[in-house]
Amino acid sequence: MDERTPLISTVSVSRQQPRHPYPHKTFRRFCSIALGSSLIAVVICFLLPVAILPRGHDSLSTYLPWSKPFPKSWPQSTGITFAELQELLLNTPDEDKVRSWSEYYTAGPHLAGKNLSQAIWTRERWEEFGVKSEIVAYDVYINYPVSHRLALLHGDKVKYECSLEEDILSEDPTTSLKDRIPTFHGYSASGNVTAPYVYVNHGTFQDFKDLVAANISLSGKIALAKYGGVFRGLKVKRAQELGMVGAVIYSDPEEDGEITEENGYKPYPDGPARNPSSVQRGSVAGTLPGDPTTPGYPSKPGVPRVDPHNSIPKIPSLPISYADALPLLKALNGHGPNASSFNKYWQGGGLGYKGVKYNIGPSPDSVVLNLVNEQEYVTTPLWNVIGVINGTIPDEVIVLGNHRDAWIAGGAGDPNSGSAALNEVIRSFGEALKSGWKPFRTIVFASWDGEEYGLVGSTEWVEEFLPWLSASTVAYLNVDVGTRGQHFTAAASPLLNALIYNVTGSIQSPNQTTKGQTVGDIWDGAIRTMGSGSDFTAFQDFAGIPSLDLGFSAGPKDAVYHYHSNYDSFHWMDSYGDKDWHYHVTITKIWALLAATLSETPVLPLSAKDYANGLEKYLNDVKKRSEQYTTSVSFDFHDLDKATTKLQEAAARFDAYTAELKERVGEGVPWWKWWKKVKLYYEVRKVNTKYKTLERQFLYPGGLDNRSWFKHVVFAPGRWTGYAGATFPGLVESFEDGNTTNALRWSGIITERLNTATTLLD
Ligand SMILES: *[C@@H]1O[C@H](CO)[C@@H](O)[C@H](O)[C@H]1NC(C)=O
Ligand SMILES: *[C@@H]1O[C@H](CO)[C@@H](O)[C@H](O)[C@H]1NC(C)=O
Ligand SMILES: *[C@@H]1O[C@H](CO)[C@@H](O)[C@H](O)[C@H]1NC(C)=O
Ligand SMILES: *[C@@H]1O[C@H](CO)[C@@H](O)[C@H](O)[C@H]1NC(C)=O
Ligand SMILES: *[C@@H]1O[C@H](CO)[C@@H](O)[C@H](O)[C@H]1NC(C)=O
Ligand SMILES: *[C@@H]1O[C@H](CO)[C@@H](O)[C@H](O)[C@H]1NC(C)=O
Ligand SMILES: *[C@@H]1O[C@H](CO)[C@@H](O)[C@H](O)[C@H]1NC(C)=O
Ligand SMILES: *[C@@H]1O[C@H](CO)[C@@H](O)[C@H](O)[C@H]1NC(C)=O
Ligand SMILES: *[C@@H]1O[C@H](CO)[C@@H](O)[C@H](O)[C@H]1NC(C)=O
Ligand SMILES: [Zn+2]
Repeated sequence: MDERTPLISTVSVSRQQPRHPYPHKTFRRFCSIALGSSLIAVVICFLLPVAILPRGHDSLSTYLPWSKPFPKSWPQSTGITFAELQELLLNTPDEDKVRSWSEYYTAGPHLAGKNLSQAIWTRERWEEFGVKSEIVAYDVYINYPVSHRLALLHGDKVKYECSLEEDILSEDPTTSLKDRIPTFHGYSASGNVTAPYVYVNHGTFQDFKDLVAANISLSGKIALAKYGGVFRGLKVKRAQELGMVGAVIYSDPEEDGEITEENGYKPYPDGPARNPSSVQRGSVAGTLPGDPTTPGYPSKPGVPRVDPHNSIPKIPSLPISYADALPLLKALNGHGPNASSFNKYWQGGGLGYKGVKYNIGPSPDSVVLNLVNEQEYVTTPLWNVIGVINGTIPDEVIVLGNHRDAWIAGGAGDPNSGSAALNEVIRSFGEALKSGWKPFRTIVFASWDGEEYGLVGSTEWVEEFLPWLSASTVAYLNVDVGTRGQHFTAAASPLLNALIYNVTGSIQSPNQTTKGQTVGDIWDGAIRTMGSGSDFTAFQDFAGIPSLDLGFSAGPKDAVYHYHSNYDSFHWMDSYGDKDWHYHVTITKIWALLAATLSETPVLPLSAKDYANGLEKYLNDVKKRSEQYTTSVSFDFHDLDKATTKLQEAAARFDAYTAELKERVGEGVPWWKWWKKVKLYYEVRKVNTKYKTLERQFLYPGGLDNRSWFKHVVFAPGRWTGYAGATFPGLVESFEDGNTTNALRWSGIITERLNTATTLLD
């Protein structure tokens, strides 16, 4: 991969700032002329620069003031003060505006690679707001639905023909669009299979293991699974591995907790319960993000492409509603064991009151499903929109991103609540630009395409600009579903925890019953580890850039959110999800303030100590889990313990030093001691470089076993859970496989990474 910059021509930010071992051209010319004649010139040219420099360990050139721009107004923001910037960011976002952005994005279909006009519109808005923006395209391998059928057959007779359609609702205009998107799975295989079927519960690795243990015949059958538990692609993957010929996945109202028709709630549009015809579309690709034909490199036109079938399924699959699943489940009544006779994971199911007994099957040979799935596979462009506000410091960058593509014409929650918020974030920064503000650090905004199929747009972009991103990026701030309920949730690299607490602690909650409280006050404060499931994956797990993912989720009392269904619509958002649009505005403020704090604070607001303490917690968790696997030998964690403790100590020292440095910066330096100011500036720069590259130390170039694209030794999506984050994946997976040799190998790799991080901080 060659070195590239993130923006084509005009807005590119060069990774390699030319480093002059000696002063720049005019200064050099002056010296060469003056040198011949005067001793004073010698003093000016050599002795003065050396005298004002801090006694550092790095090469002289690192500290020469002219080798990197020294911001005139440092440590203040340029143009306006940080307090004034905060004011603008908190006062600009507006309910009516955010509602109108949402209305635009959700007016028509915008499946990956299908709506160039939305990319152009987005770019035009950002430029209007005052942010230079570009469309960055990739050619990706992707599928679009052609036709489908799912029928229950008794011998030759069609017993039930699934509608495979979501009901048209007169109240909700996008449900009746002529060009609305059919129900299908991203990256599913085409096929036409007719076979008996088996109820496989959630279709987790363990569920399939239980079926095999119970001697249920799976080979040659179709799997009928309910959504939930694990990423849908892993259900199909495991079914395929066990010789099954197709998969059908339905939404069981058990997912909806309290808010069900069984409990007396009316379904959407008349009430907050799930509409029985709602279908969850979604990708069934493996967990390898990006274009499956270009693993690890960008999908530019003409690049070589590999066979994708190691990472996408070979058997066909379809998503269905519970209305369509009912006849299929009932036809299994009385066939095979009851799910309830299995372990605790097999209990429950929300359709018992409709007469479903949740028998496992298989269905008798005369009762079969005909599953037809016809997909068109093409290599076609998709379009990211990238906006940049250049900062004063070229090699410290904050990236904000949200995807734009949706499975349906709507997508008011996923992803366009985030897209609407991003527009308001950019409009707010635009207001600051108009007041003469220039950020300290560069801020990059991204509207990704193709997230839904497998994080495609963001992954290809990170793969293309990896050298520049590695050298420059301080953090990536992702908001996918900004709002689908009222409960704030966060996942993050522990480096960012303190910042999240700080910002949520300073923004008012829209909760009507808790006047005067902040978002932080009514949030339980739980920050999840980074797994997968949105565009932060390539940043965090591939590039080692500390990332976070935020949003307001649905809590147990909130209206059921129709994930990846036609009913995730503007009308739903406007009548149930966020009636007053206050939560959209609140996520906008949180996001903008996070970005501003990261961009403007002289000493980066990151915590090495939180990271090191997080590592100790994860290690304890691994120890607990290892007991479950290593039966005979008890594994020796001594090296890992020691390396973790050393890192904790170094991190605590480092944070203490940076806290003291922050105070010195805050106290300010009188202007006549300008050399002290310069020295302080370069001390801050050095500290920030360490914060910036700390997460990068946890990358292992060899990658995880059998999925080498994942480079991070601390975080990865679980092998068999998909979305949920696994910590110390290499080690844990070795235990799972009962391979102590490999566990030792991973212990060595991780210990080395921890020690490198310690060396960096010391
Ligand atoms: C940002 O800076 C780069 C080089 O430093 C320059 O090429 C680019 O035009 C600038 N972009 C904007 C939006 O000002
Ligand atoms: C693209 O999106 C716009 C705005 O949502 C919509 O009006 C239009 O119909 C979409 N175009 C296509 C080709 O689907
Ligand atoms: C599926 O296969 C069956 C039997 O091979 C055939 O009768 C049927 O026409 C096929 N359906 C489609 C949609 O191709
Ligand atoms: C498992 O099922 C097969 C038929 O599917 C049967 O032939 C075999 O005896 C069963 N084995 C056990 C251990 O129940
Ligand atoms: C399934 O459960 C029902 C009661 O709910 C019971 O009558 C029946 O015997 C069970 N069947 C099997 C195969 O365990
Ligand atoms: C709103 O505040 C009340 C009172 O503190 C609390 O009980 C409720 O859970 C909050 N609602 C949400 C959605 O956070
Ligand atoms: C956030 O950090 C700033 C600067 O350190 C501090 O002044 C402010 O009180 C903090 N706010 C909260 C809610 O922690
Ligand atoms: C890698 O995959 C192969 C087969 O796909 C398997 O046999 C092997 O155990 C896996 N190795 C690890 C370390 O997971
Ligand atoms: C255990 O892992 C090592 C690599 O560390 C590998 O060479 C070996 O084949 C693995 N053993 C098994 C049984 O998979
Ligand atoms: Zn999304």
